[in-house]
Amino acid sequence: MPPGRGGALVTAPTLLQAEHLSGYFQVGGGFFRPRKVLRAVDDVSLRVRRGETVGLVGESGCGKSTLGRLLLRLIEPTAGRVAFDGQDLTLLSAEELRRLRRRMQIIFQDPYSSLNPRMSVRDIVGEGLQIHRMVQGRAALEERVAELLQRVGLRPEHRERFPHEFSGGQRQRIGIARALAVQPEFIVCDEPTSALDVSIQAQIVNLLLDLQESLGLSFLLISHDLKVVEFMSHRVAVMYLGRIVETGPTAEVFGRRAHPYTRALFSALPVPDPARRSLRVLVEGDPPSPIDPPAGCAFHPRCPRAQRGRCDVETPRLLEVTGGSGHRVACHFPEE
Ligand SMILES: Nc1ncnc2c1ncn2[C@@H]1O[C@H](COP(=O)(O)OP(=O)(O)OP(=O)(O)O)[C@@H](O)[C@H]1O
Ligand SMILES: [Mg+2]
Repeated sequence: MPPGRGGALVTAPTLLQAEHLSGYFQVGGGFFRPRKVLRAVDDVSLRVRRGETVGLVGESGCGKSTLGRLLLRLIEPTAGRVAFDGQDLTLLSAEELRRLRRRMQIIFQDPYSSLNPRMSVRDIVGEGLQIHRMVQGRAALEERVAELLQRVGLRPEHRERFPHEFSGGQRQRIGIARALAVQPEFIVCDEPTSALDVSIQAQIVNLLLDLQESLGLSFLLISHDLKVVEFMSHRVAVMYLGRIVETGPTAEVFGRRAHPYTRALFSALPVPDPARRSLRVLVEGDPPSPIDPPAGCAFHPRCPRAQRGRCDVETPRLLEVTGGSGHRVACHFPEE
């Protein structure tokens, strides 16, 4: 893949803004056992501009999908707020929220389980159009569905068929057509290529980029494939145990890797500067539980740079590393 987009769209208006957003789950419990709090997302602030892709990376279980769902208010936040196009989602009535929902969609990882096997492609793609009364009458629906299928690289006659008749890549195209049907402005892409063969992944990536370009879409791109994230994202956020530990323009975060966790996570990627190779480390062991996260910096038990008395005590704040670029890191001893 060619190098990524690198820079942020600094002048585009903000479409979505999350402030101090948290999503906790009550887990466990039973006879005489207390329920515990799992902090899946903890005090996350994030902005997505119009036409921008923000990549979200981090180990399995760090809270990426939960954050995506909180942004769409598919999960009620425990704390914090989300504003979409200036409207605070947490203050909207049910009817206002329903109308705003049309403008925010989600594409899932697994095109096998996310499409109802008993629904035809027409019904899958057309459902949102009918719910939001975006077409009048049967003929208009047929036409619009045909148009959407063509837009994602499928054929109008595919309307009659059912999900099992398609390949993985085609099913993902159906999922994308379903999301596009209601003319959204923001799409959470939750591991959109992870379930696909490598040869198909590039096609889906290119389709998403093409749609973004022509429709001015904003994406939150959740992926463990750092190559895909680098290629598609203007900015990235690295998550660890429910928190953002590093964020900034893609080229800066990928190039500098200021947080030791980012460095560890990215250590499988080739480092452009050979002098830096010796600094590579791999993340050892499993991440701690989000039920009882370590005190101080949650990464300190696994961190090669951690210093006793500081990192195990004081939670680092997300602070700017280089003037003005928006590159921020939550670390007491960031990499130079
Ligand atoms: N509905 C739920 N109830 C209880 N715990 C949950 C729920 N959903 C998620 N979790 C927990 O919250 C944490 C974050 O999960 P999440 O699915 O957001 O992670 P993720 O980063 O998307 O992981 P993956 O890369 O595997 O998809 C995990 O510990 C998970 O077990
Ligand atoms: Mg997930």
